[in-house]
Amino acid sequence: MPAPPGRLAIDLDAIAGNWLKLCGLAAPAAVAGVVKADAYGLGMDRVTPALRRAGCSLFFVAGLEEGASLRALLPDVEIAVLSAPVEGFQAAYRDYRLLPVLNHAGDLAAWPGEDAVLHIDTGMTRLGLDPADAAALEQRRFRLVMSHLACADEPDHPLNEAQRRLFTELAARFDAPASLANSSGVFLGPGYRFDLARPGMALYGLNPTPGEANPMQPVIRLEARVLQVREAGRPLTVGYGATAEVRAGRRLATVAAGYADGYLRAASPGAGAMLHGREVPLIGRVSMDSIVLDVTGLPPGSVNPGDWAVLIGEGVDADALAEAAGTIGYEILTSLGARYARSYTGGGGSGA
Ligand SMILES: Cc1ncc(COP(=O)(O)O)c(C=O)c1O
Repeated sequence: MPAPPGRLAIDLDAIAGNWLKLCGLAAPAAVAGVVKADAYGLGMDRVTPALRRAGCSLFFVAGLEEGASLRALLPDVEIAVLSAPVEGFQAAYRDYRLLPVLNHAGDLAAWPGEDAVLHIDTGMTRLGLDPADAAALEQRRFRLVMSHLACADEPDHPLNEAQRRLFTELAARFDAPASLANSSGVFLGPGYRFDLARPGMALYGLNPTPGEANPMQPVIRLEARVLQVREAGRPLTVGYGATAEVRAGRRLATVAAGYADGYLRAASPGAGAMLHGREVPLIGRVSMDSIVLDVTGLPPGSVNPGDWAVLIGEGVDADALAEAAGTIGYEILTSLGARYARSYTGGGGSGA
């Protein structure tokens, strides 16, 4: 096998450490693990055993397939699926011992059992029962009653307090544990933590407190090889659309990661990478399989084909890359491509 042009290192101990940190912050509330979308792109098969070993015993996934995969990995945990079974798939939820999250009246009618999560919409307007309809269910028992915050990453947003108040009132009507906070919600204060927090992004090292220092440990390091280095002998334009111009004498390194690898096209201009410990800017458009870095600031001859550029790591974090691309760190992680050679450290696992 030829050497891969990109490599993605995932630190399972950092994920477990982030979960334990959130447990400390949320206590006495318990903390689940949100591992949908293949554990935010980092690999459910490696992430969930590491979380389990750290003590996590309740996981949230998005759909039946994810639930079935997780059940095969972890026979002894609770798995909540954020969508209830569609007609004909109730038996599969039972077979895999999945807790459906019941979002609307149809879900509630189709799943009469107590082994379910009731989701009440308090302001997200995506999934969940209208609060007015929740009153009729007070006699029913559920494993958990939950709602989801729309603006938890904006502590001053008035919707946070409105959702917290409404959920406090609604949850008190049910004889079941209650859950409201996602990662950022944990940091909004004790009033948001209820009985269970449901963090995802903070486990994976994204910053749940935007605008402040990231309290979580970094989890990933993404690197790609330098393919070619050139010095401009005359003024040149760089890449598709000739959107960037460089003067004679600038040195450019072409690096093997592009939008097909989830290195978002919108990241340029604005994004940077690390090369030999120095931050270097992207120049020109992101191509399918490559980007170009302006390495003029590094000593001549110091950058060569085969060198590794750090695209995420060493201070260039997924949140910064997301900001350059006009998106959020979640999209950076869940877009990480299949061409990277993945390696895992820690987690009590067996390495790469
Ligand atoms: C219902 C629900 N709860 C919890 C989470 C975890 O959120 P975060 O990754 O922001 O912690 C999500 C993620 O989108 C979600 O949809």
